[in-house]
Amino acid sequence: MSYRIETLNLRGILDSRGETTVEAEVSLAGGARGVGSTPRAIAPGRRERARGVIAGLGPRHAGRVPDALQRCLVGRSFADLGEFDRTLDRIHEMEFLGANVTLSVSLAFARACAFSEGTSLSTHLAAAAGTEPGMPRPLINLLSGGIHSTEHANPFQQIMLVSFGNSIQADVEAGLAVYRTVEERLAAKGITGIPSASSGLLVSGMSWRQLLEFAADAAAQRSSTLALAVDVAAEHLHQGGGRYRFGEEILDGDAMLEHLCAITTDYGVALVEDPFDPDDAPRWLDFTRRMRGRVEVIGDDLYATDPNRIDAGLATGILLKMDQIGTLTGTLSAAARARAAGMTLCISHRSGETEDTAMCDLAVALGAGFIKIGGPRRGDRISKYNQLLRLDEQLGDLRNRAAA
Ligand code: PGA
Ligand code: ZN
Repeated sequence: MSYRIETLNLRGILDSRGETTVEAEVSLAGGARGVGSTPRAIAPGRRERARGVIAGLGPRHAGRVPDALQRCLVGRSFADLGEFDRTLDRIHEMEFLGANVTLSVSLAFARACAFSEGTSLSTHLAAAAGTEPGMPRPLINLLSGGIHSTEHANPFQQIMLVSFGNSIQADVEAGLAVYRTVEERLAAKGITGIPSASSGLLVSGMSWRQLLEFAADAAAQRSSTLALAVDVAAEHLHQGGGRYRFGEEILDGDAMLEHLCAITTDYGVALVEDPFDPDDAPRWLDFTRRMRGRVEVIGDDLYATDPNRIDAGLATGILLKMDQIGTLTGTLSAAARARAAGMTLCISHRSGETEDTAMCDLAVALGAGFIKIGGPRRGDRISKYNQLLRLDEQLGDLRNRAAA
């Protein structure tokens, strides 16, 4: 089987923060079509593929980019997603396209291929990756801080809830209930939490300790199967010279390490993302050695979804953001390398999102351990929770067919 590209179009569209991002549309010989769009981070990590500049909304953007894309892709046939994405990477190397363009085109092509086979994106990706599909646990954002806040009081970019329930429905319901409890308890203190870009509540005038206590209490009240997770996003806290701004304090690396070890114990934190700057390898090694078997340590800006950066000594798991590496195939190979090294996979949103739900299909296709979507508010996040609920039915059908 091969897939011949008939048309390729790009357009500038809005993300959830009202910024411009890219959507691609691909049609194949035979009539199958696919659409894909790319999220947009507020502050991309320094190790990831850079995004291209978008000329504006609508098809205006198409005027600049497609020359190289049209020449190398349109009218050509590709055996599979891998061959297509390798070609995209080569075009990007010759003529900078940007991660937003390459990922949108990669997603649109994958969807068109799935459509032409009469299958879903998740089934197509599982076949491409040779993986066993399964439902990930959602990491549900309760409270936002870090770069989302104008204050220093809460350094955690996200304080999240992880539910160890026995179904996605139970996990999402637990997340909704705890989120509401936090909102109500804040309101009882006369504080309004405003959903941040990733829909965690942004709270003014409370310290990170108060916020962790708030979240831990609300979780404990609901169920003993809930725990907290935190994204430290330490690349953004790093002040240079191995020092970090943590709340109102400036800490050296060793003090930061001791602080984070104590926090995991004090507040029952089950997962810590990006505890240190990506270049602070000795601290990553030490922290992961101390946490292993007890707490998941996840590298986001550390690995930037790059298969060549995988090092299982630095963390116990990897955060996968498709636009960090720029194609689906690059993401699949980072996932495969990490898994072969015994690491946990966590698929992640970005701070600015579109309505695209491909990250859910990817997480289910890989049978990833976790998926990080944001808080249960606003369409850009809700569309992902809803897609997981749909995919769960598909998984049920698969299970039923296997049992028949
Ligand atoms: P980002 O943050 O938008 O900087 O990628 C999202 C996250 O890590 O949750
Ligand atoms: Zn992160």
